[in-house]
Amino acid sequence: MELGKIDQIIDKHGGEPGALIQILLDIQSEHNWLPQEALARVSETLEVPMSRIQHITTFYKTFSLTPKGRHQIHVCMGTACHVRGAQDILATVQAVTGVGPGETDPDLNFSVETVSCLGCCALGPVIVVDEEYHGNVVQAKTAEILKKLIESESAEVLEICACQ
Ligand code: FES
Repeated sequence: MELGKIDQIIDKHGGEPGALIQILLDIQSEHNWLPQEALARVSETLEVPMSRIQHITTFYKTFSLTPKGRHQIHVCMGTACHVRGAQDILATVQAVTGVGPGETDPDLNFSVETVSCLGCCALGPVIVVDEEYHGNVVQAKTAEILKKLIESESAEVLEICACQ
């Protein structure tokens, strides 16, 4: 991992220990997770104990200490979504991506998480794909959304290959 990028993020926040959470959020946003090496750099530069950083990163669910996929899929399993078939939606997500709840595929393409409510129960069942909400989804619509994502991912790879 590139520690220079971590230093840039720290500098952007003036190297202030008071900006610790914002710095961690920026690193998370850059890498999709918080590599141990980056946390050690933050601890050393801000002179903040690792124990404090560990406490924050394990307390807030938004932080991940394990690698995450480029595409984040959240499936609501709350009561309103559950009674409208959320379990079938989750099964479709798993069938299309090959990734189960709480897992990330080895190529770091997808991470799948279940959540207890997304705050828009009237639209249930709801999934969020890369921060885009999709309501009233059925299995076919879910598969279509994910297949489009996979196709765009393949197109990106082809574009990269074409440039080489
Ligand atoms: S239960 Fe799914 S959005 Fe509230």
